[in-house]
Amino acid sequence: MDDTRGRTTRDGIRIYEPGDYAGMHKAGALAADILDRVAPMVQPGVTTGELDAAIEAMVDDAGAVSATIGYKGYKHASCISLNHVVCHGIPGEKKIKDGDILNIDVTVIVDGWYGDTSRMYVAGKLSRKAERLIQVTHDALFEGIKAVKPGNTFGDIGHAIQKYVESHRMSVVRDFCGHGLGRVFHAPPNVLHYGRPGTGPMLEEGMFFTIEPMVNLGRPETKVLSDDWTAVTRDKSLSAQFEHSVGVTADGVDIFTLSPAGKYHPTWG
Ligand code: MF3
Ligand code: CO
Ligand code: CO
Repeated sequence: MDDTRGRTTRDGIRIYEPGDYAGMHKAGALAADILDRVAPMVQPGVTTGELDAAIEAMVDDAGAVSATIGYKGYKHASCISLNHVVCHGIPGEKKIKDGDILNIDVTVIVDGWYGDTSRMYVAGKLSRKAERLIQVTHDALFEGIKAVKPGNTFGDIGHAIQKYVESHRMSVVRDFCGHGLGRVFHAPPNVLHYGRPGTGPMLEEGMFFTIEPMVNLGRPETKVLSDDWTAVTRDKSLSAQFEHSVGVTADGVDIFTLSPAGKYHPTWG
């Protein structure tokens, strides 16, 4: 496929064409379907490496390509971030315990298009505070998504998320952000999950990007462990994240990574 169509804004943001939404839907639906199908496997006693192996097999069976295997030296088909891990948790030997909460983040490439999505899972019994954190993080993502329409700015998205999270006395992580994507994994702009209304680039039809707020029960600061990937909360407080890949349409937003089974939220079964 020709990869040079469309134009780029002065902020370096690529404007895709009407025919490009279909490719993003196909990639996004596969990523979301994989997150649907891994859900029943998330049980106490299973290792994060076993979940990742299942995800890698699903990517292969679909004839798709994992965007994360080989990305900057990363070796896995998913990131699995437990409890106080904010993002980029590396799957491995660690066994999931009763009461753990975890984010699973999958990015696939289908016909050259990228689908990037993550959601929260619960193993065994969910504590009240973890349930609140997960609900607020989920709803904060949708506050951001509601702000996606031509004429609004990226600052409007960040502001909507920050306002919602802080009104529930939780904090938004500043150290990681969403990103443009499409025919590439990470492109301009940085999609901040905090900000001031009316600031940042203007949203235009044809922009494709992720919104992926990370929310902490405690303070927003993070640190990256010596494996150079795993980001954790500095105060060891619980952290949650949800991510969708979206496109700006003429009058609003098109979500590419909706769950085909309607399972986007852990308590929806
Ligand atoms: N999927 C992550 C994101 O939302 C990126 C993971 S990169 C990896 O942007 F190498 F850590 F997998
Ligand atoms: Co992303
Ligand atoms: Co992701």
